Amino acid sequence: MTPALQATGISVRYGGHVAVDRVDITVPDRGMVGVVGANGAGKSSLVNALAGWSPGDRPTVRGSVQLGGKRMDGLAPHRRARRGLVLVPQGKAIFADLTVAENLALMRPPLRKAGRHAFSMDEIFALFPRLANRRNHKGGMLTGSERQMVAVGRALRAAPRVLLLDEPSAGQTPHLLHELLATLRRLIDAGLSVLLVEQSVRSALELVDALYLLERGKVAAHGPAGTMRDDPRLVEASLGRVPS
Ligand SMILES: Nc1ncnc2c1ncn2[C@@H]1O[C@H](COP(=O)(O)OP(=O)(O)OP(=O)(O)O)[C@@H](O)[C@H]1O
Ligand SMILES: [Mg+2]
Repeated sequence: MTPALQATGISVRYGGHVAVDRVDITVPDRGMVGVVGANGAGKSSLVNALAGWSPGDRPTVRGSVQLGGKRMDGLAPHRRARRGLVLVPQGKAIFADLTVAENLALMRPPLRKAGRHAFSMDEIFALFPRLANRRNHKGGMLTGSERQMVAVGRALRAAPRVLLLDEPSAGQTPHLLHELLATLRRLIDAGLSVLLVEQSVRSALELVDALYLLERGKVAAHGPAGTMRDDPRLVEASLGRVPS
């Protein structure tokens, strides 16, 4: 079966600094794949490149990205998102002065969804009951985990085929992160595939099917979650230490 996402030979360079070095990564259809690595390993550079984003100094990006067998190379981020490749970036900017409902409404469902599902407001509130109670609260009043839910909910309105999640653990407890990932796991049955980026691997490991370990921009190890669990390099990465 055609993978949901297939990236080949992805390299990202900031001037002379190579942040991502010829990375190949595959997300199977209806799969949940994790990318873990220490601070600065190149995780954000990688997912930003997949989504066509280039924040800050414009990086040089090479390689090929295919979504459901269709090439995304050279397409602007909003065009990739419209086709179903949707990034929830690290730091997940939600607007502090807008309410939860207004933040969600900023994402307009695409006109052509090609068999994908664009979540309605009611569906998002059913998935995240905490948000339903806070729909009229301003973004600035929310906890880290509620902000994360808004960012994910907003992405779901775009009818993603593949959701790229960059460090959803930031600012929330392991328990709430687990709850969020379990919610996403349920959506996989509805046709979603997820690429999850995390510095800390512990809470994600039980939920992902496969795991890639990124070290200094390179894939140091990858495999099914079950076999990666005991990899000593993974333990090091999960402690947030930079491998020597
Ligand atoms: N805009 C930029 N300009 C120059 N160098 C950058 C830029 N963004 C990232 N880098 C460098 O690229 C490397 C990878 O950074 P990146 O943010 O992708 O890592 P990360 O794995 O996401 O780290 P973290 O876990 O802290 O989010 C680092 O050495 C970083 O300093
Ligand atoms: Mg990052």
